[in-house]
Amino acid sequence: MSDTVYLNGEFMPLADARIPVLDRGFIFGDGIYEVIPVYSRHPFRLTEHLQRLQHSLDRIRIENPHDAAGWTRLIREIIERNDGDDQSVYLQVTRGVAKRDHAFPKGVKPTVFMMSNPLVTPAPALVESGVACITAQDFRWLNCDVKSIALLGNCLLRQLSVDAGAAETILLRDGQLTEASSSNVFVVKDGTVLTPPKNNLVLPGITYDVVIEIARAREFQLEVRAVTEAELRSADEIWLTSSTKEVLAVTTLDGKPVGDGNPGPLFRRMHALYQQFKLDHMR
Ligand SMILES: Cc1ncc(COP(=O)(O)O)c(C=O)c1O
Repeated sequence: MSDTVYLNGEFMPLADARIPVLDRGFIFGDGIYEVIPVYSRHPFRLTEHLQRLQHSLDRIRIENPHDAAGWTRLIREIIERNDGDDQSVYLQVTRGVAKRDHAFPKGVKPTVFMMSNPLVTPAPALVESGVACITAQDFRWLNCDVKSIALLGNCLLRQLSVDAGAAETILLRDGQLTEASSSNVFVVKDGTVLTPPKNNLVLPGITYDVVIEIARAREFQLEVRAVTEAELRSADEIWLTSSTKEVLAVTTLDGKPVGDGNPGPLFRRMHALYQQFKLDHMR
């Protein structure tokens, strides 16, 4: 496995990449990131990832250091310079290096870093078995639509599920489902697929959008609306979605079976359609 990364205009071995300790990403968590799945060396949904990158930058008032064509060139090059057909490209932009002061510095260039790791999607056995999840109160800030590198809240919440031997922590705020620590969440109740709308309480997942697109195209019954804790707890099926988990069934929640404790029929259909969608949309 090669480990070529990109930092501020140059490709280099990971071991040679250095940033100053006064980088505002290090000092304040002042930056944003993206994770782009790559299948057979094709970045999946690249346009949508770059649009979300722009949204995050706009929300925290950092000027985009590259246009879409520039990002596309860099992303294609990092894929090229790393081994493996299926990769997970991580990129992050911070406000840059400046003397420590909360106020935004003037005339500072953003720091741009990219790396690529092997893309590890759920093994077939996990798709067959589904995963255990726990719930927790969503105590994160109210700007969860920003893909911020300041992920301490998400890390603390994820660790709760690690400690409980579970795969994810599903989050509830004011009696309603938001998302999970690093995934979006769908619920199936009486044949209808439910998921919360995109707003400031959730990350607008690229996989979430794909699943909704498939559900609409294939005439699943779908409602994008607030989902209550009671609906989550009495769901027939629960799915997690993310770029690395793709679509994954949740088969126990807080130790209790979801439905009959096996991945449900709508999950199986959606999972198969998602795999086909990937093949049809390699670009
Ligand atoms: C908090 C959170 N929600 C949702 C997602 C899913 O987003 P995507 O489908 O773009 O990977 C992620 C991905 O890492 C996440 O961190």
